[in-house]
Amino acid sequence: MITSAAISDIRAQVRNWRKNGETVAFVPTMGNLHLGHITLVEQAKLKADRIVVSIFVNPMQFGKNEDLDAYPRTLTADSNALIAAGADLLFTPTPEIIYPKGLEQQTYVEVPEIGDELCGASRPGHFRGVATIVNKLFNIVQPDMAFFGNKDFQQLLVIKTMVEDLSLPIDIIGVDTIREASGLAMSSRNGYLTADEKNRAAALKKALDTMALGIQQGQSVTSVTQVANQALQAAGFTPDYLEVRSATTLKQPLDSDKKLVIVAAAYMGKARLIDNLTFTR
Ligand code: PAJ
Repeated sequence: MITSAAISDIRAQVRNWRKNGETVAFVPTMGNLHLGHITLVEQAKLKADRIVVSIFVNPMQFGKNEDLDAYPRTLTADSNALIAAGADLLFTPTPEIIYPKGLEQQTYVEVPEIGDELCGASRPGHFRGVATIVNKLFNIVQPDMAFFGNKDFQQLLVIKTMVEDLSLPIDIIGVDTIREASGLAMSSRNGYLTADEKNRAAALKKALDTMALGIQQGQSVTSVTQVANQALQAAGFTPDYLEVRSATTLKQPLDSDKKLVIVAAAYMGKARLIDNLTFTR
């Protein structure tokens, strides 16, 4: 695996592969890699000849009082895991390389209809930061396809919408959420949890499962949501949002919407955890 922080190196390497007719897949990450990230690389390897991964803790997508400084940085372990998974090229830029003018640049990518609610409402500017960095990374790497986790359901929809609206020639592929045996979705932010908090955090996925089952059995969205919120609080969560939405638009579901998603964000100790569950009613 070749590792470089230089945009020119990434462009030159990808250009070479393309000249040889090879296809290129891209997996953007913020590092501190776990099995969820590695699964994205494995899925990418099934579809493309060459795999590019980026590790960049993107300051533009963090709010002022969020965990930018505390966010775990584990480059050596990440690099070893990527070599084992068979990645070909690792891009590890610094903030100065990505944002030479600082964060107050002139041009941003915004996807307001999807990006301003749920996580976007709790984290103003978050999805603007995500869409802008992903667009920049796409322009640097110029992949044929890019892989994202369904765990960040709203993020995936923001990126799919951006790609469609801006006619980017990149296939966006969503990969199922990888979970601990307890059901807890793997996340770099799980590292903020104590052992006890991590045990209790399994209640989040259980609440989603119970809600989906209740709705499928004909219970009202209001009543299943109320019960699930109580279960989360009993486990020690402070819920941020817990909502049933259309899985295709992320809007409030119409009676005609059959594919639904339950999206949730909740605080456990120092960690803000998110999860979601798609199902058919
Ligand atoms: P990060 O949180 O590092 O996640 C990188 C990718 O891994 C995302 O597509 C995310 O959805 C996926 N992922 C995380 N946990 C997963 C799990 N348990 N199962 C499957 N996939 C999982 O998301 C970001 O970074 C950033 O916002 C980024 C897109 C890199 C832009 O900065």
